[in-house]
Amino acid sequence: MAKSDPIPELSQVPVHVGVIMDGNGRWAKKRGLPRKLGHKEGVKVFRSITRRAKTLGIKYITFYAFSTENWKRPKDEVDAIMDLFEKNLDEVKDFIDEEIRVRFIGDRSALSPTLQAKMLNTEKSSEHFTGTTMILAINYGGQDEICRAVKKICESGTSTDEITPQLIEQNLDAPDIPPLDYVIRPSGEMRLSNFMIWQAAYAEYYFTDILWPDFTDADFDEAIIEFSNRARRFGGVK
Ligand code: IPE
Ligand code: IPE
Ligand code: MG
Repeated sequence: MAKSDPIPELSQVPVHVGVIMDGNGRWAKKRGLPRKLGHKEGVKVFRSITRRAKTLGIKYITFYAFSTENWKRPKDEVDAIMDLFEKNLDEVKDFIDEEIRVRFIGDRSALSPTLQAKMLNTEKSSEHFTGTTMILAINYGGQDEICRAVKKICESGTSTDEITPQLIEQNLDAPDIPPLDYVIRPSGEMRLSNFMIWQAAYAEYYFTDILWPDFTDADFDEAIIEFSNRARRFGGVK
């Protein structure tokens, strides 16, 4: 199958896919390289999978890039990851040429002013695209996002009987983006690690042992084909 071909046999395509990009460190370690080179390699895969998602007609794809818990890592690793974000936001121009809308979720206030400015800029230059939206989760934690939503609700003076799941959803970081249909996690770990815990309430899950830097477009296609065979009931009867 050529890289640009859609998969022909799909009966359903997920509207919103979440990807927990994991295994960069182990990939580097296996090769005797510093962990930061694993992250660098992981960025290449992220770029390729974003394009593949667009080809497959996936409307929303969210990548977990840095969690609220990842600050616990050694400073040089955190600095290297932040550098990669800055560099790649300069290179995101080709996504914009390809009409991919870019959004961010997470608490931006802890990020450098330069990075925050680049994030805003990227969102602005791509906000008019209507095809595929790529969402990057940076300094993101599901618990933190829900907490921040609850704070906003309290500050607005809402009375307790007005509190509904819909109201909480409206106060999350990207209220216009639909919930996750599918969560893909490479690297063999079978957990969410605080990724979109609200939005993943009815998601399907796909775990694979492949480390993120080794994850190919064909591996992504395989995951998407697997999704098309899942029967979803949302608590009902089918
Ligand atoms: C995922 O790869 C990238 C981030 C969490 C930033 P890891 O760095 O967690 O790789 P492993 O899990 O140590 O192999
Ligand atoms: C999850 O990976 C966070 C990201 C991929 C950004 P981690 O490597 O941080 O997760 P744990 O620590 O194994 O749960
Ligand atoms: Mg990890």
